[in-house]
Amino acid sequence: AKCAVVIVAAGSGQRLGQGVPKARVLLGGEPMLVHTVRGVVRSGIASQICIAVPAEDAAMEQICTKLVGEFGSKTDLQWSIVAGGADRAESVRAALSVLASDITTVLIHDAARPLTPAGVFDRVSHALRDGAKAVIPALAVVDTIKTVVPAGLPGTGAGVEKVSGTPARSRLRAIQTPQGFDVDTLRRAHEHAQSLDAASAALITDDAMLVEALGEDVYVVQGSTHSLKVTTPTDLLLAEAMLAGPLR
Ligand code: CTP
Ligand code: MG
Repeated sequence: AKCAVVIVAAGSGQRLGQGVPKARVLLGGEPMLVHTVRGVVRSGIASQICIAVPAEDAAMEQICTKLVGEFGSKTDLQWSIVAGGADRAESVRAALSVLASDITTVLIHDAARPLTPAGVFDRVSHALRDGAKAVIPALAVVDTIKTVVPAGLPGTGAGVEKVSGTPARSRLRAIQTPQGFDVDTLRRAHEHAQSLDAASAALITDDAMLVEALGEDVYVVQGSTHSLKVTTPTDLLLAEAMLAGPLR
């Protein structure tokens, strides 16, 4: 069974607010994408690595060229760089379209998770080898999670919400990447998603939910606190500390 790893790096990084695509933001003096790719290469599971990058981003192309130069000669890895799309799902689809024909399983990984430990890649790929068609890494949540609905209080302005429910925390999980799939199953899931209207498409935040929509079982393995997604400036501080210090 041959495995491809897709790294989605085509986002703009609005919430990090550095004015450059997040994958180019420096972590420990190197672009975030460099750390992410290193982690994937180190996992040893990939026979193809496909990176979805922002279209027409010369700086990102340079980073990718350097990465392929650093790792390309030492391994049997096939590298593919593709232009991503307007949303994450489109970036994933762009990458799926260039996977080699002998690929049977694929892991979709956020470039924004630069410190994902090898153990997480191992757990995901083991579950695939054991027959899962879909597998995702998860952590128990520490906060109480509630659902809310818009609700204006009499006498106050807009923007007020009220609680509509509190799911039992013991059954909630925070989901990370890499998310692993049988490649045909993920292709089917993404084809299905392409027929969604814009409002439904905007609700898609990971690949697994598309596979869930097909009625396939999605298995859960243990994630890692080191696999945090760098989303806000606080996350970047935490990632810097993890990279530098005894936290790692
Ligand atoms: N991503 C992508 N293509 C998009 C949007 C997102 O490849 N059109 C990738 C990002 O590069 C990131 C991952 O999906 O590695 C997770 O997305 P997120 O954390 O939301 O990153 P951004 O979209 O870049 O950040 P923001 O939402 O704050 O703009
Ligand atoms: Mg985003």
